[in-house]
Amino acid sequence: MYAVITLFVFLCLAASTDADHHQPCHSPNMTGELSVANLKGVYKAMGAFTFDSTGNKLRFISNESQHLNTSHLDLLVFFDEGILYEIDSKNQSCEKKTLQSTMQPLDVPSDAKFHSALNIGHHSIEGEGLKFNMWTGQMPAEMKGYYVMSTSMGCLPLSAIYFSEPTGLIVSVMDIESEIKDPDLLVLPSFCEGLPVVETVNTFLCEFM
Ligand SMILES: *[C@@H]1O[C@H](CO)[C@@H](O)[C@H](O)[C@H]1NC(C)=O
Ligand SMILES: *[C@@H]1O[C@H](CO)[C@@H](O)[C@H](O)[C@H]1NC(C)=O
Ligand SMILES: *[C@@H]1O[C@H](CO)[C@@H](O)[C@H](O)[C@H]1NC(C)=O
Ligand SMILES: *[C@@H]1O[C@H](CO)[C@@H](O)[C@H](O)[C@H]1NC(C)=O
Repeated sequence: MYAVITLFVFLCLAASTDADHHQPCHSPNMTGELSVANLKGVYKAMGAFTFDSTGNKLRFISNESQHLNTSHLDLLVFFDEGILYEIDSKNQSCEKKTLQSTMQPLDVPSDAKFHSALNIGHHSIEGEGLKFNMWTGQMPAEMKGYYVMSTSMGCLPLSAIYFSEPTGLIVSVMDIESEIKDPDLLVLPSFCEGLPVVETVNTFLCEFM
């Protein structure tokens, strides 16, 4: 997966397609799988997500995150409010953090620049080609870096790569269905209500760095 996406980036940066006036697209409501690795290829987390693109809310439940200090990562993020909850359903505990930036891998930021539309494989044989759009933009100032994001022609997220210090990240999105299958996952559990903020972090991505 890592090699494939590196290839995408290479092709992207090598391509010199006209960057015309495409406006950033917006993803639909989604349920799917997401994985996060650093740019050395170390997997940080893999798991299931639910995303409400209208309310800008994300739930990510990872059961494989052996390279983080936690074996089980359960996040509920309200990007518009700039609030992230780390949930531990087993002992019904919760940590509340604030986010300085709304940067996230499932929707193209509204200030992203269209870079190019690419075809990989054979463009005219069904099932033999992949056509996608590439978008680029700057990370928040404190994180000093930039991102390259790819989406399908219908704006489903494929991957997002964040080049920043001290560690870059690559997020891959798979098995998307364009609906919210379990809306309850986006509702704040009662044991998380009224908690004080314990930490302020730059972005959602900091949970994986
Ligand atoms: C993690 O969850 C996925 C579904 O999201 C499942 O396919 C996989 O088997 C699970 N892995 C473990 C180690 O439980
Ligand atoms: C996405 O889901 C939310 C919550 O169920 C809903 O309010 C909203 O209308 C949906 N958006 C779209 C584009 O379907
Ligand atoms: C993981 O935990 C160890 C010991 O508790 C700590 O020294 C280290 O900084 C932690 N790493 C991260 C990434 O939080
Ligand atoms: C809940 O469990 C986690 C580890 O599984 C632990 O770090 C945390 O302190 C526990 N919280 C409470 C309130 O017991």
